[in-house]
Order: sequence, then C-alpha cells, then structure tokens
Amino acid sequence: MPGMRSSMVMMAVSAFPFAVGLLVPAKADQPPSSNARKVIGSSCISCHGKTNPAGNIDLSSDTGIQRAVSSGRLERVLNAGSMPPSRRLTKTEDASLRALLPAKSAAPALWSLRPVSNPPVPKVSGIKHPIDAFIAKSLKAKGITANPPATKIAWLRRITVDLTGIPPTVGETAAYLADSTATSRQNVIDRLLASPAYGERMARLWLDVARFGESHGYEQNHIRPNAWPYRDYVIRSFNADKPYSEFIQEQLAGDILGKGNPDILPATGFLVAGIHDTVPSQVEEATRQQRANDLEDIVATVGASVMGFTIGCARCHDHKFDPISQRDFYALEALFSGVNHGETDLPRPGKSLPKPSRDWLAQTVNVHNQVQQLRFTGRVKSQGGSGPPGTQ
Ligand code: HEC
Ligand code: HEC
Repeated sequence: MPGMRSSMVMMAVSAFPFAVGLLVPAKADQPPSSNARKVIGSSCISCHGKTNPAGNIDLSSDTGIQRAVSSGRLERVLNAGSMPPSRRLTKTEDASLRALLPAKSAAPALWSLRPVSNPPVPKVSGIKHPIDAFIAKSLKAKGITANPPATKIAWLRRITVDLTGIPPTVGETAAYLADSTATSRQNVIDRLLASPAYGERMARLWLDVARFGESHGYEQNHIRPNAWPYRDYVIRSFNADKPYSEFIQEQLAGDILGKGNPDILPATGFLVAGIHDTVPSQVEEATRQQRANDLEDIVATVGASVMGFTIGCARCHDHKFDPISQRDFYALEALFSGVNHGETDLPRPGKSLPKPSRDWLAQTVNVHNQVQQLRFTGRVKSQGGSGPPGTQ
C-alpha cells in the first residue's frame, strides 16, 4: 500500500499541528465580532437556537455564547473539529470563533506543547560549562552551595557507570590516575563513547520507551525468538551517533527507508514491540477488538515516545485538557492501519549461504534431532510457569 507508506514518513513531520491551535494568541473577553455572529448564524443556530438547543448550548444570545466560552465547551468542539456535525469549519470560520476564546498565556503549561527554546545562559562566575551556570543559579536561589569536586577515582567510577553501566577495570583506573595531561578526562570520555558498551547502556533507555520485550505479553506470552534484531538496531544507532530524526524516521518507516538494508529494516520492530494478544477467537467482535488494541498500542507508543504525550485516552473520547481529539487519534491510527505483527527474512549482506547438501544433512541428522529436542523441552518447561527454562 504505497499511499499508506508515504504518509507514514510524513507523519513525523506533520504530527505537530495539534498544538498550533493553543499557540494562537486569542483576544480577551469581548462581545462576539460580527464575523463570529455570521458563522454562528449560518452554521450553528439551526441546532443551537433559543428553544430546545442541542446539547443545551444556546448560541442565540451574547450571554449564551459567553456561557459556551467560559465552560470551555466551545473550545472543546473547535479543537475536536466536531461542530457543525456535517462538515469541518473553514480556517477563516474557525479563526472567527476562536477569537471568542479567552486569552491564553502564549506558552501552554504542558512542557511537551511548548516550542523548544534556547534560554540565555545565566551570568555566574567561575563556571566551566554553560549547563553548570543553570545549576549554580538554581542552587544559589535555594541558598545551597555545591559539593567540592569529586575525587579522581570517584569521577572515573561515576562516568564509567553512567556511560557503560559497568565499573572501570583496574587497568583503566591505573591508566587514568597516571594520566596527568590536561585532556585526561576527555580521553576517558572518548574511550567510553567509543566502547560498544555505550550503545548497550543507552539502548536500554529507549527500549523501555519502546516497551520492548522478547515475548508477546498477554495471556500466552509466547517467546519472540526473533525480536533481537530490533534491539541490536537500537544499540547500533547509539554507537553510530545517529541523528535523532533519522532514528525516529527509520522506526516509523524502516520498511520503506531501509528496503533491502539489513541494518535499517529491523527498525520497524519499534511499532510492534508491544504486547500482542495471540489467543484466537471465534467471535468476530473479539477479533476486531484485538486488532483495535494492537493499533492503539502503536499509536499510544508513538505519542508517548516521540511527542511526549499520552494520547491513548483519545481512543474513547477527546482529551479534556490537551489538544488531542478522538478525530486526531483515529487520523493517526489510520496511518498505521497497514501494520501487522509478523516476521520477515532479513536480507543477508554479501553472498547468500549455500543450500545444505544431502550429504551434510544426512551426516548431521542426529544433531538436528537433538536441537529440536532441546527446543521442545525448553518450550514446555518455560510454559510450565514454575520457573525459567532449565530450573526443573
Ligand atoms: C445539525 C445540528 C448542529 C449544528 C449545525 C451544530 N451543532 Fe453543536 N451540537 C449539536 C448536538 C446534537 C450537540 C450535542 C451532542 C454532542 O455534543 O455531540 C451539540 C453540541 C455542541 C456543543 C457542546 C459540546 C460539548 O462537548 O459539550 C457546542 C459547544 C456546540 N455544539 C457548538 C456548535 C457550534 C459552534 C456550531 C456551529 C459552528 C454548532 N455547534 C453547530 C448539533 C449541532
Ligand atoms: C475504553 C474507553 C475509554 C478510555 C480508553 C478512556 N476513557 Fe475516559 N471516559 C470513558 C467514558 C465512557 C467516560 C464517561 C463519558 C461520559 O460520561 O460522557 C469517560 C469519562 C472520563 C472523564 C470524565 C469526563 C467529564 O467530563 O466528567 C475523564 C476526566 C476521563 N474519562 C479521563 C480519561 C483519561 C485521562 C484516560 C486515559 C488515561 C481515559 N479517560 C481513557 C471512556 C474511556
């Protein structure tokens, strides 16, 4: 489905207009402008008149309009794009009605809706790095003084555990203590960033965000023996210092961006890393429910991971405070409606392996049988529920 695929690539770019409505500064309380009255007269009043108004929203008087504004209900339908029910308002109509909303501070409260800013560095003396200036300023405001600098050995231990998750070796410690050059710390940091353990350490954080697990979760919780290429993709990405935008695009659309490329193709494991109900049902409604749950898992994870936004609640209703409507939710969901759980062969780099010969198969048949046997007993034990494989 080429249509769906190109929209998947677009999505990372086009997901942000949700927030735009909140960022538009609105005028303070005023009587409705003639433009707003015109829109209400032509598009709303047929259902929201004086007698028996729909949803108990009477838009026939200034007081009624003010009530719809102050209760937040007008803003809600504008954000949801749900009124009038038959069509979407044009941009101009929408703007005329939004002008009725009370003024908001330019920056919405929720951090994830604020534009990225580059705040000026506080002027603090005796600071080596601009980030320290922010810390020093906050400490000063609270009347706290900083601790003395860490000892050499404490610093080495901390930086090594931070970047690789494991303590420094005796040899690394001795080398650092003996290094009295001005770049001794820089040398350590460069060595740690170049270590494969750096990617392994950092990948854990993203794999948590991506709700990665090597089993389906849910009732049966079957093992996913082939989930690891995604894990390795994340590790490789950190070790290669890949730009964030590329990292995200590959995970949303790696099947197109990485066609034929075994380094990138596994990135889409991100979309299907979540729990997956594998219990088949005879009832069509239940099967559809399972599918809806899978898609919700994908959409909610994309929201939480790359937008810093929990959007799963909009599966059932507009969010009460954030600008996420049910319509937005299903628009996003539609982008992923072609995604399914499944396995695919990774293209092998270089020559493909030769087909095993009959001779080889005959000579190794016992080994294959043993492997099968081990796989089978391992599976039976791990499903027994009384301990990990091999403990019984
Ligand atoms: C065809 C009839 C119809 C038209 C036209 C219509 N509405 Fe509604 N409206 C309804 C109904 C029915 C409800 C109550 C049920 C609902 O919320 O969906 C409602 C509810 C509302 C609510 C309350 C929603 C809430 O979440 O509390 C607001 C505010 C509103 N409409 C504003 C408008 C505005 C503004 C227009 C014009 C741009 C408009 N409506 C046009 C039928 C209509
Ligand atoms: C499976 C469907 C579903 C999901 C998912 C869901 N809700 Fe609801 N929610 C409902 C229903 C149904 C109501 C009752 C609506 C009503 O009374 O009109 C409701 C009502 C609410 C209300 C009260 C609304 C009011 O105006 O009084 C809040 C707040 C709310 N939900 C928040 C959330 C949050 C936060 C989440 C996500 C963590 C969430 N909901 C997820 C179905 C859902």
